[in-house]
Amino acid sequence: MSSRRRFLQHASTIGLAYSANTLFGRLLSAQTGSSAANQPVRVFIDSRRAIAPIDRNLFGSFLEHLGRAIYEGIYDPGSKLSDSNGFRKDVLQEIRQLGVPIIRYPGGNFVSGYDWLDGVGPKQDRPRVLDKAWNSMNSNQFGTNEYMAWCKAASTEPLMGLNLGTGTPEQAAALVEYCNVDKGTKWSDMRRKHGFTEPYAVKHWCLGNEMDGPWQIGHMTATEYGIKAQDAARQMRYVDHSVELIACGSSGPLMPTYLEWDREVLEQCYDYVDGLSLHRYFGNTTEEAGGDSSKFLALNLTMDRQIAESLAVCDLVRGHKRSPKKLWLSFDEWNVWYRQRNGDAVDGHRKEAPHLLEEIYNFEDALLVGGLVNTLLRNADRVKIACLAQLVNVIAPIMTNKSGLFRQTIYYPYSWGLQFARGRVLNVQVESPTYDVKGMDAVPYIDAVATASDDGKTSLFILNRDLSKAHAVEVVWEDQAGSRVLASQVLTGDDLKAVNGFDGERVKPQPFDKPTTSNGRTKFEVPAHSYTVIQWGS
Ligand code: AHR
Repeated sequence: MSSRRRFLQHASTIGLAYSANTLFGRLLSAQTGSSAANQPVRVFIDSRRAIAPIDRNLFGSFLEHLGRAIYEGIYDPGSKLSDSNGFRKDVLQEIRQLGVPIIRYPGGNFVSGYDWLDGVGPKQDRPRVLDKAWNSMNSNQFGTNEYMAWCKAASTEPLMGLNLGTGTPEQAAALVEYCNVDKGTKWSDMRRKHGFTEPYAVKHWCLGNEMDGPWQIGHMTATEYGIKAQDAARQMRYVDHSVELIACGSSGPLMPTYLEWDREVLEQCYDYVDGLSLHRYFGNTTEEAGGDSSKFLALNLTMDRQIAESLAVCDLVRGHKRSPKKLWLSFDEWNVWYRQRNGDAVDGHRKEAPHLLEEIYNFEDALLVGGLVNTLLRNADRVKIACLAQLVNVIAPIMTNKSGLFRQTIYYPYSWGLQFARGRVLNVQVESPTYDVKGMDAVPYIDAVATASDDGKTSLFILNRDLSKAHAVEVVWEDQAGSRVLASQVLTGDDLKAVNGFDGERVKPQPFDKPTTSNGRTKFEVPAHSYTVIQWGS
């Protein structure tokens, strides 16, 4: 038994509520094993005990020039479902309804070989280019100006990715000038000549993509990248000092250079950037979850750990630099992705809009995505941007064909984060029985997070990881109890492998019996393997 698990079990017997996060030095909400197996789970909520305000950008998303994300996804000029700009109206409506606040574009691996000049100017003059990252053809009929127009139509903000693979810092600064300067300079006048008078005021920019990955076009060492990112940042700020810049952190904890990459990069560019990026994809594979769904559903705790470790590096470098500035994190790619990862699923065979990474999500994937929503929320003090990767057709919650779209299972937990997580995240204390997972510390069956808004709405998000048993939950209101239930829904079902498709949605929210509150306590039961949201008004 690991010493950490011994510590948790000792804490449980004496009724303490310490969290995994506390042990990483992060004093965030406590998810702990502090009730006996037959006791109800208890969730202590005090609206005065907050972790941080929620930045709306915590539930952003991502659209890459990859497969059918752009072409046939959001842009399909030949379709009867499109408007006069060629934008799919049904997809736009879905994204507006979700309320996605920020969307990263144009990549991803794609961006590291992309010349943004190929995608601007008269459409008939734009070249058809081989995208080497996905071995696909890009007609360039959709580029920067089309994306800005689409963002406006979708009521979202762009998070622009820059090519720091084959691209130079000078080209990155030129794109900032093209987008953000009003007039009177080479690149701003070019935008005007292209027919776009108003500058776009793009605030957030990613300095490259996954530059630590040997698969990345232009991959380099951490120090080389750190110097290049610093130069790009300086040139971009000469053009527009108001931009917020994100340096490439490690692509994930499995990278051999994990954390050391981040440290070396930040030693070069800490003073020039505002945030550090993290990426992570989870899989229900033998290697990652041992083919065991109860382990799979615990994997969001490894995202908590990745966040804590990345912050430790940011703050280490901050110490080295004696800097007053604290970096925030941009978790700008996260999702479940493990089926469509090889062979034809990642090779476009030099076609336009090939079917790539078209992962079909099942019910247990949605449950883990619920857990990941919880993890992002309880780290909202330092994670300011996060992007579900991706949004349409490519490892996505929304899938299209010629005649319509359907919502994948993962759409729903993501939409709940967007709809119900408002205001600030509360530092809830959770007492839950735990279970053992090989290679992990004791895992609480119940993972719970709560938020509270200034207009008196409290929302509670509960993942029950127990595959066989429902759990009784008692919410202990330590100040004012939520009185009126405004919403209560659950994602549940018998079949963990159930999927949605054009033939029907088998996995979607169901009404959850409105729980009642008396004497400052609310009692209810969450079904086995389920994700539940309850919102109360004051
Ligand atoms: O989102 C799919 C790919 O995953 C992205 O292009 C890349 O950044 C990551 O490896």
